[in-house]
Amino acid sequence: LFDLWTANRPPPSPGTNSGTDVIAFQGWHKFKEAFPPELIRQAIEAQPVEVTRCIDPFGGSGTTALAAQFLGVGSTTIEVNPFLADVIRAKLCHMDPDALAADLAEICSRTAQSERRKLERLINLPETFIEPGRAGRWIFDLNIAFRLESLLVAIDQLSSAEHRRFFRVILAGVLIGVSNVRVNGKGRRYRQGWASLDRDPSDVDRAFLLHARRAIVEVHKFSSRPKVSTSIICGDARAFRTRRMHELAIFSPPYPNSFDYTDVYNVELWTLGYLAGADANRALRASTLTSHVQINRRFAQAPKGSALLDATLVALTDARDKLWSPWLPSMVGAYFSDLLRVLGRVRDALHAESSCWIVIGDSKYANTHVPSAQILRQLASRSGWLVTSMDPFRSMRSSSQHGGATELHETLLVLKRS
Ligand SMILES: C[S@@+](CC[C@H](N)C(=O)[O-])C[C@H]1O[C@@H](n2cnc3c(N)ncnc32)[C@H](O)[C@@H]1O
Repeated sequence: LFDLWTANRPPPSPGTNSGTDVIAFQGWHKFKEAFPPELIRQAIEAQPVEVTRCIDPFGGSGTTALAAQFLGVGSTTIEVNPFLADVIRAKLCHMDPDALAADLAEICSRTAQSERRKLERLINLPETFIEPGRAGRWIFDLNIAFRLESLLVAIDQLSSAEHRRFFRVILAGVLIGVSNVRVNGKGRRYRQGWASLDRDPSDVDRAFLLHARRAIVEVHKFSSRPKVSTSIICGDARAFRTRRMHELAIFSPPYPNSFDYTDVYNVELWTLGYLAGADANRALRASTLTSHVQINRRFAQAPKGSALLDATLVALTDARDKLWSPWLPSMVGAYFSDLLRVLGRVRDALHAESSCWIVIGDSKYANTHVPSAQILRQLASRSGWLVTSMDPFRSMRSSSQHGGATELHETLLVLKRS
């Protein structure tokens, strides 16, 4: 079943962004920074003991939990972004495809009957979201916003909570496509000529229907996936607790490249009602790993124990005048402090001798290289981990996610809990 799922493709790069959205479930919402499911299988098969449960403290698109489910292995996932946590829950959920199809028909017929001319669900969105927007720019034309509202109301009327979550995730998957913006690692940009796009609400219906049908076919095709225990904790990986024990941890944290996932999924977070207001948006940013400088925060002190980190911080501080933000040296120091906290939590959730597989990428600011994997290797070996292997590979990440540089490595770092 796993091979059917991954279409037996040639082994992809173990790094992120190697094109996983062509795989069933992973196309429900584009997530460029996903690592390939094949890496999870490799990690599970490489363990000397049977893996019954694995843990991923940075869930993202849910690759670890989903791949583990296909392999009959249980999982614990931590993900701070509530929208992404729901995407993962929706993917892992065993649903009846016929019942989903019936509910899709229900949503479509309710939406067709309702000509909404009032916004209730979307009334609290920031001013920039809906026409007339602010300073002559907006993300959704008004007629598109009315149609999104109708769909949200129709979805909310479904009796099954699991189906409501599924269809909201599907709707989220088409939001950017019917909006006036594009989103990438550098943030949100207006499309060229967006003001003359002249969108029709039927565009929303078509996109939603197509996307939902495709997803329901995938649910049907893989309905014989094993039923395993999965736990998804929506929270901060630096502070999570679980009583469950695991034989393997595998994850890819945000890289210290100023990429803020709260920005990348902001349209979905607001439109689907995950953020009640600006305070909630700020709180979410503050609970993300210190991999960006988008908010004012107190940066944790850089950890001791890595000569490479010390040298990198000196070089960054010396180059302060050339940096695009004066906070970057503090951010890089705090980033590694955060990662050590996460490793501490992960350690508590692992049986002795278990492995921890980490895919991590380097960064560069004003020609100062931040060799993330090597720094983490030094820090981890001084905090109770044995370093089993460290394999750099060619990164598939685009330059924008790496702050403009193309030659930066991603590395697979394997640690063992001593
Ligand atoms: C590189 S992505 C993980 C991708 C994942 N390996 C996959 O295949 O989809 C990092 C994820 O960490 C999440 N994240 C950031 N800060 C976090 C925190 N403090 N606690 C938990 N998750 C966090 C982000 O929202 C993002 O989804």
